[in-house]
Amino acid sequence: HSSSDGDDALRGRRVLVTAGGTREALDPVRFLGNRSSGKQGVALARAARDAGAHVHLIAAHVETELPSGVDITRVSSARELQDATLAAAREADVVIMAAAVADYRPDTVGEHKMKKSEDGADPVIRLVRNPDILRAVVAQRAERSLEQLIVGFAAETGDAEHSVLDFARAKLARKGCDLLVLNEVGTDKVFGHDDTEVTVLSARSSEDRGARGTKDEVARFVVQRIAEDVRTDG
Ligand code: CTP
Ligand code: CA
Repeated sequence: HSSSDGDDALRGRRVLVTAGGTREALDPVRFLGNRSSGKQGVALARAARDAGAHVHLIAAHVETELPSGVDITRVSSARELQDATLAAAREADVVIMAAAVADYRPDTVGEHKMKKSEDGADPVIRLVRNPDILRAVVAQRAERSLEQLIVGFAAETGDAEHSVLDFARAKLARKGCDLLVLNEVGTDKVFGHDDTEVTVLSARSSEDRGARGTKDEVARFVVQRIAEDVRTDG
């Protein structure tokens, strides 16, 4: 195989991309959120579009301009993202799960704006787990016997005993997706910045491949990597 093998593999394929950070409501005016800008997901949607794919972008909260020439669905919470993603994934050849999904949400959402109490105790926010959308997409693929390539993302930091790659390998296996795009995160790496560095891990090969550059350059690299696998699958 030459490196240009995947060049045309996405032409006419349906590619679903999720991007941005979910928000979990506390009351009508407050939410729990995260720092995802959505730039990487939007760059992936553009790169897939430029590779000739029909792109559906499901945008949670995105702080960058949305691309033209792609279908867009807007969502806010993890559960809205899950409903939109599972429905759209039924029609997709490739699912790229770049959104930053809140792991937890407040267990209740106030109907009215919360008020400070003058004499009572300070409020405590109880959290409950959100569904794992990526795993649900993997499960749906199996249930419906879909021909689909599923790509997860992971933002990891290493610790004393485990490297980021150890964590990413374990996550790839746990999620059951085909490719996992690893971002190593620190306080001012990745989030909201234009330069980034990724390593792509594959479930069917132990060979990791990395790229660094602008989010657009990295997106083109990831899309090229996806195209190679789509091509190999026929
Ligand atoms: N993801 C998802 N649904 C969730 C959480 C994460 O679909 N509820 C997806 C993300 O979009 C990403 C991948 O799973 O593609 C990995 O996200 P990450 O937060 O790294 O994984 P978690 O399983 O939540 O692991 P951790 O406990 O390390 O946060
Ligand atoms: Ca998580």
